[in-house]
Amino acid sequence: MLKLRFSFIFKELAVEFSIKSGSPEKQRTACVVVGVFESRKLSLPAELLDNAARGYLSELLRRGDMEGKAGNTLLLHKVPGTEADRILLVGLGKEREFREKDYRAAIVAAVRTLNETGGFDGTLYLTELPVKKRDIAWRVRQAVIVAEETLYRFDQMKSKKDDVRRPLRKLTFCVERRNELAAAEQALVEGQAIAAGMNTMKNLANLPGNICTPTYLAEQARALAAEYGLAAEILGREEMEQLGMNTLLAVARGSHQPPQFIVLKYQGGKAGEKPIVLVGKGVTFDTGGISLKPPPEMDEMKFDMSGAASVLAALKAAALMKLPLNIIAVVPAVENMPGGSATRPGDIVTSMSGQTVEILNTDAEGRLILCDALTYVERFEPDCVIDVATLTGACVIALGHVVSGLLANDDGLARELLDAGNASWDRAWQMPLFEDYQEQLQSNFADMGNIGGRPAGTITAACFLSRFTKKYEWAHLDIAGTAYKSGKDKGSTGRPVPLLTHFLIERASKVGAGGTASK
Ligand code: BES
Ligand code: MN
Ligand code: ZN
Repeated sequence: MLKLRFSFIFKELAVEFSIKSGSPEKQRTACVVVGVFESRKLSLPAELLDNAARGYLSELLRRGDMEGKAGNTLLLHKVPGTEADRILLVGLGKEREFREKDYRAAIVAAVRTLNETGGFDGTLYLTELPVKKRDIAWRVRQAVIVAEETLYRFDQMKSKKDDVRRPLRKLTFCVERRNELAAAEQALVEGQAIAAGMNTMKNLANLPGNICTPTYLAEQARALAAEYGLAAEILGREEMEQLGMNTLLAVARGSHQPPQFIVLKYQGGKAGEKPIVLVGKGVTFDTGGISLKPPPEMDEMKFDMSGAASVLAALKAAALMKLPLNIIAVVPAVENMPGGSATRPGDIVTSMSGQTVEILNTDAEGRLILCDALTYVERFEPDCVIDVATLTGACVIALGHVVSGLLANDDGLARELLDAGNASWDRAWQMPLFEDYQEQLQSNFADMGNIGGRPAGTITAACFLSRFTKKYEWAHLDIAGTAYKSGKDKGSTGRPVPLLTHFLIERASKVGAGGTASK
C-alpha cells in the first residue's frame, strides 16, 4: 500500500486534525464526544466514561435526559471522575441499523455542537463506532470530510459575516487499538487532501458568473501552478482558432468574455509514464445561448463550471499528497450567451476532429466544448481520460441528487470509478453506452446533430462525446444532479472531488512507489 508520511497544516481547512488512542476519561480537552444508541445504550467509550464517573451517565439516561435518537445531543459539564471540561453525548439511533449515513449524521451533529458551544478543541470517539463493512481508514476519512463540510461557509461576498464567537479549531479522532494508528494516520492525510480539494472546488463554484469568468478560471489555474510547481499552459482564442476548435468557439461567440483553454500538468510520476487526463466542463455561465433557458433557477447555471472546478481541485489534492502519478487537468472555459454574433440553431461547424456538427440547440453547449477538448488531449497519449460535466438535466431526472451518472467505453475504468465512488461515499451509477442510441444523433445536414431528442438524454449526450474518444480509454461523469444543491442550502457540494481523488489514490497505490511528502 502507498504510504503517505507527513504532518501537514492544510490552509484550506477550517480545523486542525489529529489521531490518538487512549481512554476517554483521561482526555484533557475542551470536550470529549461519545455516542449513545437508542434506547439509552452506551457505546463502548461512553461506558468507560460512565465507569469512571461511577454511573453518572447511565443515571442521566435512566432519568430520561437522552434516548439516543439520531441527531440528538446532550452536553455535560465537569463530569466527576473525568478530565475533560465537557462531555458531549451524541444520539446514534438504533445500533442494528447504524450505517454509513447514520455515521456521517453523528459526525455532523458532534461538529456542529462543538462549534457552537465554545470549546476550541474536541476529542471524538465516534470514529471507534463499528460501521458495517467499513474499516478505521474509511471512518477517519469520512470524519474529516464531514467535519469540513459542516464547518464550510461561503461568506466572502457578504459585508456582514455571522461570526462564531469561539469557533472550533482542533479535532482529534480516536482509535480503539494502537495497531490501528498507522492506517488512521494515513487516512487522516487522505481525508484532509480530499476535504481541501472539496473546499477549493466549492470556493470556485460558488462564485457568481460576473466574477468567475473564463479569464478568472485561467488565473486560478496559474495560481495553482505557481503554488504547487505545476506546468500551466493557457490557450487564447487565436490559438484555438489555429487548432480548429470550432465547436468550442461556436459556444463562446455570443459572449464578451474571451474563451480560455486551460492545461495544468502535475508530474508526480516517472518521466515518460502515461498521464491520467481529467477534462472538466468550464461553462462559467450557461444562459442557453439563443436557445435561451427559462428564468426559474437560471442563477444556478453559474455552477455550470463545476466539472472544471472539480478537476482543478482533484489535481490539487493529488499534488498535496505528492501522488506518484502524472496527471493533466484540461478545462475548456467559456460563457454561453445570446448576442448578435451568437451561434444560431441550425449552424454547422467543423470540430477539431474534422467531424461536422449541426448545432440544433445552443443550450447543448457542454458537449460542444468537451468534444474539442477530448480531441486535443489525444496528443498526451493518455493512460485514460475522465471528463466531468454538469451535462444534462436528464441526468437529474434519472438519478436525482444521490449519484452521479457514469458512462464509459471501457468497463475496467468504469469499475474503478464506481469503486472509488463507493469507497469515498461519493457514489456514481453506470448507464449503458450501447451503439443503438447513436442513431438519435443523426442529422440531415452534417455528420451529427448536437442533440438526440428527449429519450435517454444523458446517454445520447455521452454518445456524442464517445465519437471523439475512440483513441483511448474514456469515462464520463455527468454531475448535473450532484455538483450543487438548490433551495435553502444552495451551494456547491464539492462532488465529485472525493470520487476523483480516491480514484487517484488507488491508482497511485498500484504504482507502488511511496509518496515522500513532508511539511
Ligand atoms: N448545463 C446544462 C445541464 C444542466 C441542467 C445542469 C440542469 C444542471 C441542471 C446543459 O448545458 C444543458 O442545458 N443541457 C440541456 C441539453 C438539451 C438541450 C439536449 C438540457 O439538459 O436540457
Ligand atoms: Mn446548456
Ligand atoms: Zn451547460
